[in-house]
Amino acid sequence: MFIDNQIFGAPLAGVTDKPYRKVIRLFSPDIPLCTEMISCHSLVEAHKNCLRNFDRYDDEGNIGAQIFGSDPYLMAEAAKILQDFGASWIDINMGCPVPKVATRSRAGAYLMRDHKLAGKIIAAVKKSVDIPVSIKTRLGWDEEHKNWVDLVNVAVDNGASFATIHGRTRAQLYTGKAELPEKPSLAIPIIANGDVKFVEDVERLKRLGYNGVMIGRAMLGKPWVFKELMGESAKPKNIGDIVLVHLDYMFRYYGIENAIPIFRKHVAWYSSGIPNSTDFRIKVNKTNNEKDLKKLISEFWSCEV
Ligand SMILES: Cc1cc2nc3c(=O)[nH]c(=O)nc-3n(C[C@H](O)[C@H](O)[C@H](O)COP(=O)(O)O)c2cc1C
Repeated sequence: MFIDNQIFGAPLAGVTDKPYRKVIRLFSPDIPLCTEMISCHSLVEAHKNCLRNFDRYDDEGNIGAQIFGSDPYLMAEAAKILQDFGASWIDINMGCPVPKVATRSRAGAYLMRDHKLAGKIIAAVKKSVDIPVSIKTRLGWDEEHKNWVDLVNVAVDNGASFATIHGRTRAQLYTGKAELPEKPSLAIPIIANGDVKFVEDVERLKRLGYNGVMIGRAMLGKPWVFKELMGESAKPKNIGDIVLVHLDYMFRYYGIENAIPIFRKHVAWYSSGIPNSTDFRIKVNKTNNEKDLKKLISEFWSCEV
């Protein structure tokens, strides 16, 4: 599944759900996208409910399922379930910085501090599936412990096919600018992640030797960004048309009542930077019915419902 200079979509909890992946695929059908992170505990122990986090369209192409957890056995079982449900590859989260995951659960970014456990998890997951296994991690725990190259070598030794590096430490969370050094010599492809927004960023990371890039926040409110980063013009003539299509996918997937509050953040991203959008967002945030929401969107962007 890995081709050189590939552009990947990052796992984004609360964003890369089934409806948003479908919108992205209207512009870039073949782009490899990743699910939101899925807890191995919830998946294995409460199997059916949690599968919703993976849920894909029958014709959905390249899709990575990202799992997090600290128990090698449960991680392997979760990977097997996701493989059976059609994942193209399994990504292991080794970068999530939130305390609930990284400190209390000894998962996510914690694994940057415990390479022995990280190796056991990768080996168990690799053994349980036939599809590629990758890790997604950060530069290290903090400025004094930037040991990502050691962790990638652990991944290599345990059979991972590629690794994604977010150019920040756990301590930085999402602050400061992501910075990646020239890519050292490593036995698997390395995907660069963090603050990739423009074609120039893609080119710079390629010059530094990275084998591909992964796009996170640049996709918020811009499902066409992947195409743009490949140098093609892709911005729709009227963004409102896309917003309405996205809303329709959300209604069909979550039901109207549940979809409306979840969709508000997407409306905020789509309308960000547009003159008079603050007023529009205030109105959207107060709306709880389908007809009014569609009317607000069609008036704001001057498009047909
Ligand atoms: C809202 C949000 C949700 C995220 N969820 C995940 C996740 O589920 N798994 C993961 O590995 N990283 C997650 N991340 C981190 C991103 O995948 C990415 O590594 C980070 O945002 C840096 O890339 P960017 O600058 O292109 O956004 C999330 C980030 C954001 C902003």
